[in-house]
Amino acid sequence: MSLFVKKPLSVLMAEAGDSEKGLKKTLGAGSLIALGIGAIIGAGLFVRTASAAAQNAGPSVTLGFIVAAIGCALAGLCYAELSSSIPIAGSAYTYSYATMGELVAWVIGWDLILEYAVGAATVGIAWSEYLNNLLVNVFGMSAIPYEWCHSPFEHSVDGLSHGMINLPALFIVAALTMLLIKGTQESAIVNGIIVITKVSIVILIIVFGWGFINPTNHTPYIPPAGTYTDHQGISHNFGGIMGILGAAGVVFFAFIGFDAVSTAAQEAKNPKRDMPIGILGSLAICTVLYILFAHVLTGMATTEDFRTNGKEASVVFAINKYMIGYGWLGKLVTVAILGGFSSVILVMLLGQSRVFYSMSKDGLLPKAFSAIHPKYQTPYKASLFILILVGIFAAFVPGDIVGDMTSIGTLFAFMLVCVAVIVLRKTNPELKREFKTPLVPFVPILGIIVCGAMIYGLGWTNWARLVGWLAIGFVIYFGYSRRNSKLGNPDKK
Ligand code: ALA
Repeated sequence: MSLFVKKPLSVLMAEAGDSEKGLKKTLGAGSLIALGIGAIIGAGLFVRTASAAAQNAGPSVTLGFIVAAIGCALAGLCYAELSSSIPIAGSAYTYSYATMGELVAWVIGWDLILEYAVGAATVGIAWSEYLNNLLVNVFGMSAIPYEWCHSPFEHSVDGLSHGMINLPALFIVAALTMLLIKGTQESAIVNGIIVITKVSIVILIIVFGWGFINPTNHTPYIPPAGTYTDHQGISHNFGGIMGILGAAGVVFFAFIGFDAVSTAAQEAKNPKRDMPIGILGSLAICTVLYILFAHVLTGMATTEDFRTNGKEASVVFAINKYMIGYGWLGKLVTVAILGGFSSVILVMLLGQSRVFYSMSKDGLLPKAFSAIHPKYQTPYKASLFILILVGIFAAFVPGDIVGDMTSIGTLFAFMLVCVAVIVLRKTNPELKREFKTPLVPFVPILGIIVCGAMIYGLGWTNWARLVGWLAIGFVIYFGYSRRNSKLGNPDKK
């Protein structure tokens, strides 16, 4: 059977209409934008921004945000066309199954694990940083011992403590998995409240922090090109164009999530109209907030701060150190962001379970992954397996590494989505597209170039990790999925 067997669109559409047996349709345009923002604002802004400033670009991390936003907008326009014409759970995976065949679909599905599962682990690790901050700065207690809240591959800046396991990160992922198993509708209500809180604290920091910008910290805005070796001994391109591209790759993490909206297409009431609104609307709101926020953060604190004492829980560190008289804001941000991170993890876990659900329905993963809970109507077995996977990454891998793996995996998937739009226009010109990507093939090609540039900026260690990840994926595909694919083996029950 061909590796490029394609899933007929008519079959996909019939599956989408088959809501009796499938997932509940409960989400409108407002809920989808909330779902998007719920997934978008999180560790990327509150943790990775400072890392990118420290390791890659200094204040010019704001330019990195602009590059990342352009890449996302271009890919977002492609996502919107696909999700409005193929309204089915599973996101980029499903679109590529219809357009580019099984092998490419598998690669994307496998890649999306980096985006959603490894991404959820990254945010879980960020949650752990801010939990420590809550204990120390809000409750006046002592911090969790270093070894219990860091991976075995980390040591403290002073070199005195070594990590073992990140227990808080593991805890939050487990707690949210249970919530998710109970059902999307309840989770969407909790999510709505958290989104409002999250946007409010970002605006508060921008407004109050603006007066504390020290122009010296913004000079030079683009540091001269060179390298920076961090305290774990890893060296990074710092400054110049490469610094900006590297920072773009790192903070690209902050935009991940707008596409998670598309994974919920099967649960949307009116997917054709609402999906593009959900995807592009949430992306636009976040872009404006991010650029202003990064400008304030790098204006308040120095790059050196983010390399040393302000390496963890960086935003609250900067507020407490430089915004004299705003201790209340530091406390508010800590509490709010713990909730904010939770909403991100929730949406990522949701996205991951829906991708597994679709892949399992297609026979590429075991049947258990599409088993629906009789009472809650959620794919609970997939969620429990994801908990194990995400738990391992959250507990035993450093935040910087999982963060960059998430970015590179997602960028690669985005490039394939851009390709899918071009292919689908050629193979299915008659397909009714409620939303059309403008200027095809120019927009998708530009999307491929900008996302490719960010992959380039992330450096060879990350390229190697991506190649390793894909190699494992191929072993599973040829060892299991190809033989069990429903499309590839029509006689198999
Ligand atoms: N965009 C999400 C975050 O920044 C993944 O946490």
